[in-house]
Amino acid sequence: MIQQGLVSVNGYTVRSVDHHVGKGSSVSIAQEQIDARLIRHIMLNKPIGVLTAAVDRKQKTVLDLLPKPFSTCGCMPVGRLDKDTEGLLILTTDGELAHRLLSPKRTVWKCYLAVVDGPLSSEDQEAFESGIPLSDMVALPARLEIIESSPVCSSAHVWVHEGKFHQVRRMFSARGRTVTSLKRLSVGPLKLDPDLKPGDYRELTEQELRLLYASTGIEESHDE
Ligand code: URA
Repeated sequence: MIQQGLVSVNGYTVRSVDHHVGKGSSVSIAQEQIDARLIRHIMLNKPIGVLTAAVDRKQKTVLDLLPKPFSTCGCMPVGRLDKDTEGLLILTTDGELAHRLLSPKRTVWKCYLAVVDGPLSSEDQEAFESGIPLSDMVALPARLEIIESSPVCSSAHVWVHEGKFHQVRRMFSARGRTVTSLKRLSVGPLKLDPDLKPGDYRELTEQELRLLYASTGIEESHDE
């Protein structure tokens, strides 16, 4: 398109493919202004049954849920939710932000709503707080807030700041419970928008971005 003279930046036709597009520039293709932001951040309510991956030859991935330009702008999922976990998934083009949100050196609390197949007690709460031994590690102290407990089914909020494979499911399993439903509600200061139905997504607001960047200690890098 550049070779054909179709692309213009701030009203001037671009002649070179390595033309630098500065912050706040107006980019048009064939006289039509396009949204040329380089940094994007998305909140997705990941539905059950979809893989947290960019591509997969057989199964539907979270990127398959996004239309262009979100699916093609280089947004990558921050961390992983199991195929059968739903809820808040951040996708971003900012690798440094993703790295900081995932780094074990930083304490980014994630809150989950878990439903399990039996009762939960104050002993479970204490075990979560002390760090539950798993087959390959001892989980870092976590918080369990019981919402409802009954002999056949209980629900609870769980806060963890690690993201090991099947972490929450394995923690409950170590306490003799099977997780029957798991939904992520928040990551650090970012809460899942209750208006987003499973499979829905939206861009993060300025306010959410400010909070998220502040929580990781990096300067917000808006390139838009
Ligand atoms: N813990 C799990 O067990 N699964 C998830 O998807 C996220 C946290």
